[in-house]
Amino acid sequence: MCSGRGTNLQAILDAARRGRLGARVAVVVSDRRRAYALTRARRAGVEARVLDPRPYRSRAAYDRALARLLAPYRVRLVCLAGFMRILSPGFVRRYAGRLLNIHPALLPAFPGARAVRDALAWGAKVTGVTVHFVDAQVDHGPIIAQAAVPIRRGDTEARLLARVHRVEHRLYPEAIRLVLTGRTRLAGRRVTVR
Ligand code: GAR
Repeated sequence: MCSGRGTNLQAILDAARRGRLGARVAVVVSDRRRAYALTRARRAGVEARVLDPRPYRSRAAYDRALARLLAPYRVRLVCLAGFMRILSPGFVRRYAGRLLNIHPALLPAFPGARAVRDALAWGAKVTGVTVHFVDAQVDHGPIIAQAAVPIRRGDTEARLLARVHRVEHRLYPEAIRLVLTGRTRLAGRRVTVR
């Protein structure tokens, strides 16, 4: 599920095409009609669906529609790749243990929608990327994989973002493969990888 450019989606599509996920992408869903991620999906021959939140009265109502949209695809995993909406507890429960997110910081540092900018403004020397299971709180669930990204003197947000993206594009497909091949075990907050 994507809201924007979909560079992480592209990394996932590429990994799937090369047989590196042991899975295929069944459907790409966006809350924004103009998301470039939809174009990437269509180009890869993957169904691209838009679910506009505006007609829905509440977050829960939208998320129920999202679950109805996804149901026929019988997906094993739902991956948030720049899907910039908070999901309601009902949706999170429905996909518990099968719902992944990528975040451009080393959580629990710099949660939220501007993590790269926040890390730079804070004066951090290192930031990074986190792939985690989604739970009821934002940018909070059990961590599957993390990788560090150095912040260099004179970095602009754009430069740091490009460095973070390169790491994201490697880490997300790797983490997805670990989950899909049953190599992760979840106990409380801890994810162990075999
Ligand atoms: C990614 O950097 C992802 O980590 C971030 O949105 C970007 C989407 O880029 N997600 C969050 O900040 C979630 N809190 P993309 O559309 O090019 O994949």
